[in-house]
Amino acid sequence: MSNVPTSAAECTTRQLHIEPAVLGLIGNTPLVTLRFEPENVTIYAKCEFLNPSGSIKDRFARYVIMDAERRGLLERDSIILECSSGNTGIALAMIGAAKGYRVTILMSEGASHERRHLIGQFGAELILFSSEGQYQRGIEMSREMAANDKRYFLPRQFENPLNIEDHFSETGQEILRQAPEPIDMFVTAYGTGGTLAGVSRAIKAQYPEARIYAMEPAEAAVLAGECPCCHYIEGVADGFIPPLLVDAPLDGSIKVSSADAMTMTRRLHREHGLLVGTSSGANVAAAVRLAQQHRPEGAVVTMLCDRADRYFSTKLFGDKPPADG
Ligand SMILES: Cc1ncc(COP(=O)(O)O)c(C=O)c1O
Repeated sequence: MSNVPTSAAECTTRQLHIEPAVLGLIGNTPLVTLRFEPENVTIYAKCEFLNPSGSIKDRFARYVIMDAERRGLLERDSIILECSSGNTGIALAMIGAAKGYRVTILMSEGASHERRHLIGQFGAELILFSSEGQYQRGIEMSREMAANDKRYFLPRQFENPLNIEDHFSETGQEILRQAPEPIDMFVTAYGTGGTLAGVSRAIKAQYPEARIYAMEPAEAAVLAGECPCCHYIEGVADGFIPPLLVDAPLDGSIKVSSADAMTMTRRLHREHGLLVGTSSGANVAAAVRLAQQHRPEGAVVTMLCDRADRYFSTKLFGDKPPADG
């Protein structure tokens, strides 16, 4: 009987101390072996799309909110406020729902409707801004809102070092434990750069000779010194070099066109049964090309960043469901 709350106050206290079950579902995702023919290469892919809200961003959302709670930065009336191209917004909305925090997400009008629906379904508020390629505008808006209302808590995914720390101490260590052979190459896309910076540091600490590459859309290859233009690899490469990438131990970048990213994403659906989003296809296309070109001695590792459910209305799925087409 001692586990039964005797009053509403005690119930609330317990809710504050018992971690919601969904938090335990984040991370420890499998690293799968993928064989590609006719390319004749094998790569290893980390299944981040299996996180509960469907993307790698669950990790940062959990990490930053738990850190803020430990440091006493969140009150019961706090509002978590973040500018997101979708996945971070969805992840924060999920954590907010489970922990009882209000969440407001600033998102560009160009983001897919599925992303908007998922955020709303978790009970979070969505504010759309007209970006016209200016993602920085949303970041400025979040700062202005926070300056005028002390209830806002900003995770600041684009500049927060916790974003790197999380991927160094969790994602990166998981990959090192799971890889069946020494890691020779790692390649992944960047949005905030948190995944790339954190995982690459973890890999270089154990395998200093490993080669680390950033995948970027061929249409927005800013690391290659080119001017950013429109691309269809949602959630990555917002047209600037993110601050978190500045000191990352990169050996190079590799360009993948939006068309090639979509072709490989469809191959992952139809040849491997992995229902992932376009950045995953871009990452795998880059990993396969690196494996073909360099014939590495050790493992080539990449990330499957999110699930396909947030792309149904995009070019990836075409205009009509198969029965109509
Ligand atoms: C679909 C997708 N892929 C990849 C990434 C890259 O993650 P990071 O922000 O850690 O660079 C993101 C970031 O939001 C994303 O939404």
